Amino acid sequence: MPRLKPTAALIADVQVRFHDRHRVDLPLLVDLARAYEWRGGSPGLADRFAALTEALEAHMFKEEARLFPMMEQGGSSLIGQLIDDMQAEHAMHTAAVARIQTLLSAERAEPAAEAQLSALRAAARKFFEDLAEHMRIEDEQLFPQFARRAS
Ligand SMILES: [Fe+2]
Ligand SMILES: [Fe+2]
Repeated sequence: MPRLKPTAALIADVQVRFHDRHRVDLPLLVDLARAYEWRGGSPGLADRFAALTEALEAHMFKEEARLFPMMEQGGSSLIGQLIDDMQAEHAMHTAAVARIQTLLSAERAEPAAEAQLSALRAAARKFFEDLAEHMRIEDEQLFPQFARRAS
């Protein structure tokens, strides 16, 4: 197994590569989904992206305000529970993404909305890849550094 990155470097990396980037990408995805709906796309996609935005913002805020500072201070007796909560939320994000992916692949655009649907699909694919990588790095590299000590 490769050596794990130091905690502070891993946290800084997650913050910049994923949290900051999601905060830029998600509002654009909601806008793309709304633009597609206005051109006749199935209603509800934009609301699902908006709900995912809200859930992810709450999740990232908990990590930034509570979990990451705890980790930077070397852990605490509460950290195991907090990590369990974050992992349960990762599972919920994964389920929400799967539902959106199913809807997006079933979507058939009117000719006038084809460009919007393609743009939405491409942006969503990139965001979903980033989110999966974000959660993989936390689950496989960051959290295990503390779950070990907390058990
Ligand atoms: Fe995160
Ligand atoms: Fe997370």
